[in-house]
Amino acid sequence: MDISREIFEKVAKKFGICGKIIDINALTSGNINGTFVVRAEAEGGEEKYIFQRLNTFVFKQPKHIMSNIAAITTFIADKIERNGLDKDSVMRFLRTDEGENFVEGDFGFWRVYEYVPNSITINQSDDPEKIRSAGKAFGNFQTMLSDFDASQLYDTIPNFHNTRARVENFFRNVELDECSRVKEVEYEIEQIKKLMPLGVKLNEMVDAGELPLRVTHNDTKINNVLFDIDTGEAKTVIDLDTVMPGLVAHDFGDAIRFAANKSAEDEPDLSKVGLDMGKYKAFAEGFISEVSHSLIENEIKTLALGAFTMTYELVVRFLDDYITGDKYFKTLYPGHNLVRTRCQLALAMDMYNKLDEMNEVISGISGLKF
Ligand SMILES: Nc1ncnc2c1ncn2[C@@H]1O[C@H](COP(=O)(O)OP(=O)(O)O)[C@@H](O)[C@H]1O
Ligand SMILES: [Mg+2]
Repeated sequence: MDISREIFEKVAKKFGICGKIIDINALTSGNINGTFVVRAEAEGGEEKYIFQRLNTFVFKQPKHIMSNIAAITTFIADKIERNGLDKDSVMRFLRTDEGENFVEGDFGFWRVYEYVPNSITINQSDDPEKIRSAGKAFGNFQTMLSDFDASQLYDTIPNFHNTRARVENFFRNVELDECSRVKEVEYEIEQIKKLMPLGVKLNEMVDAGELPLRVTHNDTKINNVLFDIDTGEAKTVIDLDTVMPGLVAHDFGDAIRFAANKSAEDEPDLSKVGLDMGKYKAFAEGFISEVSHSLIENEIKTLALGAFTMTYELVVRFLDDYITGDKYFKTLYPGHNLVRTRCQLALAMDMYNKLDEMNEVISGISGLKF
């Protein structure tokens, strides 16, 4: 990304960074926003910051996002302060003179936060210790916010994990069949129908008042955890753009869908696809060790169901995109969304068959009988 030094200087000044900028390094790992490590002179040495330019094409209401982020990060930071916990376990955003955690202008929409020293992100891991630690980090995030009133937050992507609404929308598009692709995916449509009763169970529990709305992260991939380079332990979760009200089972479930699949999310060879029970258990152990005292029983009891539900939801979303002409997900080759659909369907089926076993793992860790 070609952004001039003047822009960084302008943004720095607005956030009260007075020292001269020493250097700017673009981080290439993120693919939604532009992220940069900026070093600046400071009293007695130098300071490092993360400068991030928000993609306002993807995020249409950036101020709502920043308002959600401000609310939850200050809430967590206060708790850290009161309890003398590790300062680096929450993201710390700089403020402008007006007290805002963003600046905007013809140079874009920017936020700046403290660089967490000695940290690293990983895209994928086979190491159960790393996976357990990531589970702990997301569990800790949940627990820190368990007494936060989630209804205060903006619902920045309405119906994001309303599985039932997504399935209903999918079947409307099947009826329309605007790209004449329905014929070739009849088997997959049939499976979506068959799995629907379990796929919408969380919706039913919400309707019946059996599950509370919580603050959820909504992008619980392992690459959104900062690990300490020396100890290998997770320090904090990052990438808070999709924080909004939701269910704990969604966060847990999406993390499992991503981290505990034996293959990539778009593996064409379905014999390689399935739930890795070892990784599942490792993540669950880390997660539950943090949340066991802050959640209600129904939330713990629906964690495994959450993994199935999120995978099922992705089957529906990928196939919906395929039959409506590949408009939403970026595809790398023709039929990519169909390959993704089939991969996620194989994973959802595997979870469906292993649900008792998955629940037993949760029961064993939490001590709850169900
Ligand atoms: N506070 C931080 N300290 C150090 N590195 C960070 C910090 N926040 C983000 N990073 C680095 O920036 C990368 C992209 O950040 P992220 O917010 O996840 O962006 P994206 O939305 O593009 O995924 C991360 O993978 C990590 O390497
Ligand atoms: Mg990220």
